[in-house]
Amino acid sequence: MTIPIARTVAELRTTVAAWRKNGLKVAVVPTMGALHEGHLSLVRAALAKADRIIVTLFVNPKQFNNAADLAAYPRTEHDDAAKLAPLGAHLLYAPNAADMYPEGFATTVSVSRVSDGLCGAFRPGHFDGVATVVAKLFLQTRADLAFFGVKDFQQLHVVRRLVRDLDIPIEIVACPTVREADGLAMSSRNVRLSAEQRLAAPKLPEVLSTSAERLSAGAPAELVLAEARQAILAAGYEEVEYLELRADQDLSPLSAADRPARLIVAAWLGGTRLIDNVEVLPRQRKGEVLAAANAA
Ligand code: PAF
Repeated sequence: MTIPIARTVAELRTTVAAWRKNGLKVAVVPTMGALHEGHLSLVRAALAKADRIIVTLFVNPKQFNNAADLAAYPRTEHDDAAKLAPLGAHLLYAPNAADMYPEGFATTVSVSRVSDGLCGAFRPGHFDGVATVVAKLFLQTRADLAFFGVKDFQQLHVVRRLVRDLDIPIEIVACPTVREADGLAMSSRNVRLSAEQRLAAPKLPEVLSTSAERLSAGAPAELVLAEARQAILAAGYEEVEYLELRADQDLSPLSAADRPARLIVAAWLGGTRLIDNVEVLPRQRKGEVLAAANAA
């Protein structure tokens, strides 16, 4: 079983045009490859909502602010294609950088506000690179739907804003973070962890989820965040880049969980940067949930 691969926009467009002529609904799952269960869950979600699924595989140089990180990014196209074929994805679009950014390429798509702070503060230019390539992928595939993981929460906001602001006719579907059995969020970067680091890594989601509980119960955010930072460092992480409480709806910074929120983190473990986030139910909402549970 193999999956067809398109290398150029022209090849991609020929296939998609035939699908659209037959009235088929097309979904795209943008990836940078090194596919894991998190990506595959996006493909499965796409298969449930569309007739034809394009998985894009492009390690986008414009979103890396660090040349070493770009060079070290895993490139496993053969394995990726082998994982996609049995799932029933219909096309792998794997363009090369010269085709995506030909000589003279001079356009940058920049989404302000939601890209400020968090990863945007520590990875200058990252979200411009993401917005630029995602806009191109949407226009190249002309997909009806696009699937993104909630794990990259700020990226999801950037993509939603991009689509709204530029009137791109595509529905963005957010899918839950897929975790290993010990709670670590799946990521293409997890393979870089040594055995010892891998054992320490799940402390990050553990601290996030206990902190989210405390915030929902009304504990002061400043205290909870300070203690969470300490717990992450005590587990062996060498740096907490950021740990913040942000509004779920628009990513605005919060000092209390007084509305639906996210606790969002980036931390370094053994030279590997890991990101994660969890939902924080607002205090009142949590009370409602408990009241409903007690009444049932
Ligand atoms: O999330 C990713 O893997 C990338 O940022 C994306 C959306 C494929 C753009 O290169």
